[in-house]
Amino acid sequence: MISALFADSFVDAPAGGQRLTVRKAVMRDIPLILDLINSYAARGIMLPRTEFELSEAIRDFIVVMQGAEFLGCGALHFYSPTVGEIRSLAVHEHAKTKGVGRILVESLVREADTYELDVVFAFTYVVEFFNRVGFHVVERGVLPLKAWKDCLRCSKFSACDEIAVLRVLRPEHWSESQPQQWAHTASADDQFIQIPTPLSLK
Ligand SMILES: CC(C)(COP(=O)(O)OP(=O)(O)OC[C@H]1O[C@@H](n2cnc3c(N)ncnc32)[C@H](O)[C@@H]1OP(=O)(O)O)[C@@H](O)C(=O)NCCC(=O)NCCS
Repeated sequence: MISALFADSFVDAPAGGQRLTVRKAVMRDIPLILDLINSYAARGIMLPRTEFELSEAIRDFIVVMQGAEFLGCGALHFYSPTVGEIRSLAVHEHAKTKGVGRILVESLVREADTYELDVVFAFTYVVEFFNRVGFHVVERGVLPLKAWKDCLRCSKFSACDEIAVLRVLRPEHWSESQPQQWAHTASADDQFIQIPTPLSLK
């Protein structure tokens, strides 16, 4: 058992072969996670991450392994007592379209559910993938301001083409038709955060 909360889980490989292990990330995974995320970042598909950021946030991360082979990673980051983000989701090129991405998302959603979050969201270019795993597209304004803090250092800040997607975990506690009450979770720093300009508004 890696953490007090989550035991490793074992999943039959969707495409056959050796079973997959889903577990919380540990420090020795950092170089593997960095290589994967930054290889996609170099192609403009993801935000780059540093060793410091990963060390700081390693408890957010889970990894999928096949034996000793690292196939992919994802993270659950909290923004408020009710809202979390699924981010840094990445599957190695050779392991794509075999169900690993879905395993990562479902594991992170289970974790979010354990923490009693009402919703999880993501910013993405792969809307169809997120649709397949239970998310739908939402207006950016639905999300808490803090969700945009990493965008300030993104080169696409003034022409953002990422789409916000959301999966509701507790519908009885969440309604998109009513403005969310973020004021009680806002901090003084929030005044410096701006929502990036969508590409479509340029
Ligand atoms: C997006 C990503 C994580 C998906 O992982 P994956 O292991 O290939 O996805 P899965 O095999 O679990 O696919 C689950 C479903 O989504 C569909 N899907 C996966 N990638 C898709 C894509 N790019 N476009 C449309 N549908 C896609 C699959 O066909 C599958 O559908 P099905 O269950 O109805 O058959 C992976 O392609 C990736 O790492 N991409 C680069 C990094 C990235 O964009 N990360 C997302 C940041 S938010």
